[in-house]
Amino acid sequence: MPAVAAKNNGIGVGGSLPWRLPKEMAYFSRVTTTVADDEKIPHDDGRPTVNACIMGRRTWEELPPRFRPLAGRYNIVITRNRDLLDGAPAPLTTTQPSVADALAHIDEVSRTGDVRIARVFIVGGTRVYDEALHMSAHHVQVLMTRVEFADADKCDTFFPVLDASEYILQPHSRLEEVVGFEAPRGMQTEAGTGYQFLLYERRSNAADGTAAS
Ligand SMILES: NC(=O)c1ccc[n+]([C@@H]2O[C@H](COP(=O)([O-])OP(=O)(O)OC[C@H]3O[C@@H](n4cnc5c(N)ncnc54)[C@H](OP(=O)(O)O)[C@@H]3O)[C@@H](O)[C@H]2O)c1
Repeated sequence: MPAVAAKNNGIGVGGSLPWRLPKEMAYFSRVTTTVADDEKIPHDDGRPTVNACIMGRRTWEELPPRFRPLAGRYNIVITRNRDLLDGAPAPLTTTQPSVADALAHIDEVSRTGDVRIARVFIVGGTRVYDEALHMSAHHVQVLMTRVEFADADKCDTFFPVLDASEYILQPHSRLEEVVGFEAPRGMQTEAGTGYQFLLYERRSNAADGTAAS
């Protein structure tokens, strides 16, 4: 679950991102497109293995047209509007009415669809994050980019509050193990805005249950 949030958990303002952080977006892109060799499900039917990104309808609509759909990933838009994509069908993109339905759909696609799906990323907004955070049957990891954002009080959309007794901050080495590449460590700065790549894992999921200091 990748999320970029200010210290007050703000993630959006007026339907857009509150900040412009191109290197952070490149990290998001790398995290969500990387398929590790051991996740490439052995098969002989020629179907490629990709990751899936599940997002709310507003997050989908907010993606700049050149980044929509997210390339090289299976895009699932959560909406009550079954006809959302009728006028503008996009490759490897579909709608589903809830995160639970999206996960069931992913199982089906992996069995019989055009692609096999390795990892599932929940990419926002608020209700979609919230639904996923409370799914007890799934291994939940929160790839949080924490932004030192001066105008955080202007945010109108928020990441849910993580239960600190349940979601444990992990060491950077564990983050790198999860994303599958060397990630920048410590405070990063772009256009005067600082941010840090972090990983929280649900206690029941954590590799060894230890917290980062
Ligand atoms: N900083 C970050 O990491 C980050 C990540 C993502 C988004 N954002 C920001 O967050 C804002 C968008 O997020 P948002 O929370 O306002 O909207 P959102 O979750 O992207 O979209 C809300 C819509 O998704 C559908 N939906 C969501 N949950 C549903 C559910 N459980 N059941 C059925 N439908 C559901 C509904 O669509 P219908 O109305 O079509 O039924 C709902 O109106 C933007 O400002 C965006 O830039 C930031």
